[in-house]
Amino acid sequence: MCFKLGPMNANPSPTLPEIILPLDLDTPREAWRVIERIGGDLKWVKVGLQMYLRWGDGFVKELAKEGFSIFLDLKLFDIPNTVASAIRSIGDLPVALTTLHTLGGVPMMRAAVEARDRVAPHIRLLGVTILTSMDDATMNRVGIPGGVGPEVVRLAGLARESGVDGVVCSPQELGLLQAAGVGDLTFVTPGVRPADASADDQSRIMTPGEAVRAGARYLVIGRPITAAPDPAAAFRAINEEMLQAFRA
Ligand code: C5P
Repeated sequence: MCFKLGPMNANPSPTLPEIILPLDLDTPREAWRVIERIGGDLKWVKVGLQMYLRWGDGFVKELAKEGFSIFLDLKLFDIPNTVASAIRSIGDLPVALTTLHTLGGVPMMRAAVEARDRVAPHIRLLGVTILTSMDDATMNRVGIPGGVGPEVVRLAGLARESGVDGVVCSPQELGLLQAAGVGDLTFVTPGVRPADASADDQSRIMTPGEAVRAGARYLVIGRPITAAPDPAAAFRAINEEMLQAFRA
């Protein structure tokens, strides 16, 4: 069974926070090894550029056949016609979520939404705001002034105006987004690290517990699980921290 993501309704218990596991690995074999070790509690997986560019639709369909809900993280960023065509290209894939960059602007996002409405109504579109690897200084150097927080709010507003279903941001921005009146969007948050884990290349991070307390419900957490000596134990510990924060 493949759960379809409705508005804020990704699973049979939509109010419980979920881990979305990015399969940022070299081969399907490695991905399946991690998945099998984690076992039945894993519902959501994310296929990003590393796997999709090499293993393509076949891998996505294999995951769907096993019942996973799939986030195909393509981060589309091109002229409107090209992005709309790309959406048409993945229109028959069994994926629940895909991404495009909000920095592509309203015409690009609207073109994606129109293409999705025509050929892929089962796919929810998420706008990537400012990558969670970026801080104020990195963002300023590419020509965007000010702080990341207000910029994420501005871009989320453009996503909403374009008809996009949700945004990808750091859990650090969830409070600002709620206060800005765009809380009806679906929020998917990478940039999550357990207190004792390496930040790796992520800048705007929160722990799983902090993220859930800030309102995160779809938490993308990769290397702290996939690179752990015992991925199953890491997954369980993070899940437990999330559920405890949710119930508190
Ligand atoms: O291993 P880690 O937990 O850092 O993985 C985060 C995942 O989320 C990666 O697959 C990355 O591509 C994705 N992502 C992100 N920041 C965004 C959008 C997506 O880290 N803004």
